[in-house]
Amino acid sequence: MRRQIVIGNWKMNGSVTANSELLAEILDQWTGVHQAEVAVCPPYPYLAAAAVQLDNSNVGLGAQDISTQSSGAYTGEISGDMLTDVGCRYVLVGHSERREYHGETSELVAEKFQAALDKGLTPVLCVGETLAERENGKTFDVIGQQLLAVVEHCGLPGVAKGIIAYEPVWAIGTGKTATPEMAQDVHSYIREVLGPEGDQMRILYGGSVKPDSAEGLFGQKDIDGALVGGASLKAEDFVAICRAAE
Ligand code: PGA
Repeated sequence: MRRQIVIGNWKMNGSVTANSELLAEILDQWTGVHQAEVAVCPPYPYLAAAAVQLDNSNVGLGAQDISTQSSGAYTGEISGDMLTDVGCRYVLVGHSERREYHGETSELVAEKFQAALDKGLTPVLCVGETLAERENGKTFDVIGQQLLAVVEHCGLPGVAKGIIAYEPVWAIGTGKTATPEMAQDVHSYIREVLGPEGDQMRILYGGSVKPDSAEGLFGQKDIDGALVGGASLKAEDFVAICRAAE
């Protein structure tokens, strides 16, 4: 049985006040014991305060990126030890915005995935095709390559310790969600690539997930939750998506 998980990716949004209010609202609305696992990924400067706020709650903490290095002269980087030190359990790697705006290659993403595993963090590997790649029939090729780079570097048993998020680039922040069937096709392909090791892995869908699209997506057999951007910034919407995962 794979436990459903919903992760909020706050990206570069918020402030001290706004983020603590958002968290307080989420905690207010997500009390008690739940079947679904829930986590949020605030920007770096807010992680430590969020960890204090989330202490003893049923909402986990994650970061949006990780350095491949452990410590030292790497200006601007944040290591896995620092993330665990402030209470993170998850970290996103290979988000399409990092691949696109920061030139992250699949090889670098694979190193980040391993860096997270080395420090006991659960990496959430983001993969996904652009609109042009989809229109040219390249979806499976692109996703296969993004996955294989990590499999080659970390091995299948290593990959199986993480979580995969399928996020079609054309659906991120655009309001265009893949239909549940389109997403299911890719999720089942990802599971096929991972073989038996992948049976227990959680594969999340991401890309304009909203309360009204969540249920249909979560009804698919290979969709184990969501990575949520925009809608994770509104407690009511985020919690509605978490409820749909139960
Ligand atoms: P979105 O972002 O929900 O705003 O499309 C998802 C993501 O980029 O993780």
